[in-house]
Amino acid sequence: MKTRPMRVEDVDQVHAIERLSFPLPWSRESFIREICEIDNSRLLVVTGDEDRAGSPEDSKCEVMGYACWWEVVDECHITNFAVAPEHRRKGVGGFLLEKILEDARARGLVRATLEVRLGNAAAIALYEKRGFTAAAMRPRYYPDNREDALVMWKERI
Ligand SMILES: CC(C)(COP(=O)(O)OP(=O)(O)OC[C@H]1O[C@@H](n2cnc3c(N)ncnc32)[C@H](O)[C@@H]1OP(=O)(O)O)[C@@H](O)C(=O)NCCC(=O)NCCS
Repeated sequence: MKTRPMRVEDVDQVHAIERLSFPLPWSRESFIREICEIDNSRLLVVTGDEDRAGSPEDSKCEVMGYACWWEVVDECHITNFAVAPEHRRKGVGGFLLEKILEDARARGLVRATLEVRLGNAAAIALYEKRGFTAAAMRPRYYPDNREDALVMWKERI
């Protein structure tokens, strides 16, 4: 597995995973805006080792997962994170989270945060394994089912 920055050519694959992963998926345009217009936004995709960054074959490589985050002063705010259903439970999510934290550390960020549905046991377990802890609750945060959001933080990334 390897990671590289998400590009506009990846968005078809990323958006297909997004629609399979979330009840309120981001639009294709949201991903393109994050890549092209939002200065403090960073995005990574995970691919197999055959992906050679910069080669004309890049866009044909399978995207197994992706993540988006914002740099907010010295904090890493993870805004989107998913692994394709057929690649789950193989360590891809853990690998991707490590890569985000590595990148954030290298860029001088000191802590990381995210929001997760209270019922999303898989994601909460993944984040807890990497040192995130529950810090607050946002009641009825998600409009589709009024589910609560858990706010998690990792200090000293
Ligand atoms: C959450 C998600 C990203 C995990 O990705 P993944 O590649 O399956 O995760 P990994 O294989 O690296 O698992 C790492 C750890 O996460 C936890 N975990 C992952 N899936 C789990 C599940 N279905 N049930 C319980 N724990 C789970 C485990 O602690 C696991 O460690 P283990 O395999 O040693 O038990 C993936 O399930 C997903 O994309 N879900 C839909 C989108 C989503 O919920 N994103 C998070 C939004 S906040």
